[in-house]
Amino acid sequence: MSQIDRNSQTVDTDDTVWTPQNWRLRQALQMPVYPDSAALETTLNELHQLPPLVTSWEVLSLKQQLAEAQEGRRFVLQGGDCAENFADCESSIISNRLKVLLQMSLVLIYGLRLPVIRIGRFAGQYAKPRSSDTETRGEVTLPSYRGDIINRPEFTAQARIPDPQLMITAHSRSSMTMNFVRALIDGGFADLRHPEYWSLRWVDYSTRASEYQQMVASIGDAVRFMEALSGEHMHNLNRIDFYTSHEALLLPYEEAVTRQVPRQSGWFNLGTHFPWIGMRTAAVDGAHVEYLRGVVNPIAVKVGPSVQPDQLLRLIDVLNPEDEPGRLTFIHRMGATQIAEKLPPLLDAIRSDGRRVLWMCDAMHGNTESTRNGYKTRRFSNILGELEQAFDLHAAAGTRLGGVHLELTGEDVTECTGGARDLKDMDLERAYRSTVDPRLNYEQSLEIAMAIVRKQSSATIR
Ligand code: PEP
Ligand code: CO
Repeated sequence: MSQIDRNSQTVDTDDTVWTPQNWRLRQALQMPVYPDSAALETTLNELHQLPPLVTSWEVLSLKQQLAEAQEGRRFVLQGGDCAENFADCESSIISNRLKVLLQMSLVLIYGLRLPVIRIGRFAGQYAKPRSSDTETRGEVTLPSYRGDIINRPEFTAQARIPDPQLMITAHSRSSMTMNFVRALIDGGFADLRHPEYWSLRWVDYSTRASEYQQMVASIGDAVRFMEALSGEHMHNLNRIDFYTSHEALLLPYEEAVTRQVPRQSGWFNLGTHFPWIGMRTAAVDGAHVEYLRGVVNPIAVKVGPSVQPDQLLRLIDVLNPEDEPGRLTFIHRMGATQIAEKLPPLLDAIRSDGRRVLWMCDAMHGNTESTRNGYKTRRFSNILGELEQAFDLHAAAGTRLGGVHLELTGEDVTECTGGARDLKDMDLERAYRSTVDPRLNYEQSLEIAMAIVRKQSSATIR
């Protein structure tokens, strides 16, 4: 197989011919500068030869399911760490994260009466956009840490040099994560869908304890009823699908995992099922949009409070010109205090233009704040508040909220405040582990799922 010169600038400039390299002609924000371009080239060629992490038929089946979510026939749960790191590629962290996502999905299936599409923010979520290219401590200024796929977090000059070999490590850790997730799902792990195996002591501390206990009891009854009816264990009844996603930020890596597949047309990103474009790299004429417009995968774009309706319409023109169902998701992340003002004009513009997108709400990234003792945190009440408003605003606009996007972990961390146990600012130091954004812990995550169900069932009764 011939080697592709990925540093070459001599790609076809004809806009109609898309290639995985064309993004190199556009402005690429948030990109590291690799000092050794020969080493970068060697690494990218190696990466290009490695087997894919996902398959084209999985990618297409997710797109089909997202098309159904667009029509109101499914709901999406997308969640995981803000950033994975290499040290957390470890069995209990992976299985606890999978467990909480499965349990949340069961709550949502039960409460919303819809199949849930489960999408992890994992197996590749290693690159982070940064607000500044450099970090200064005292007299010393160094390049910012950009995630384990790019450089290392220690504050030394050596650690902050972008190292292409980290892309190979990221690819192999993603592959190990996928392998373990697939094995857990194929085996008896799905038994965890029985509420009798869940950790639910927190429910007693909730102001809605009796409602939530009732919900858990009903889910247990429903599972047992299904099993009695079919004579099968729940996990044999329907195969669980689990998909992966990450922010497609580090474009040389994304390009190297972009492949053509026998008997399929087009190019697939086979490093993940569902790549998304972050808020900081969503310029319509920028490199990230140029790269993602050409892949067959379903894709998402994060939409922040400064985005105007005409920008969204232009993004649709570029990213989904054929109005293909399931192709494009907008994940709005406005913040609890801004969503009521900022979201409705966007919903109206797209609805009145007759465009087809799936709407999801990221209830995390607009709600980040710092405590007086310097911890980055989010309040449970703001996260839930943004979600509840999102459901209402969509209902009022005649659109539909088709899914939620959350940063969470299956561990007992103390990073977000509030929730049933009412964590306070001073509790944060007890188990604050994130090096980036604060995540919902196991209990807070399950509580969010129950609170969504509660909100939606009261909306139906009304
Ligand atoms: C993220 O999802 O971790 C993130 C950085 O989000 P956004 O691009 O919406 O700020
Ligand atoms: Co984040």
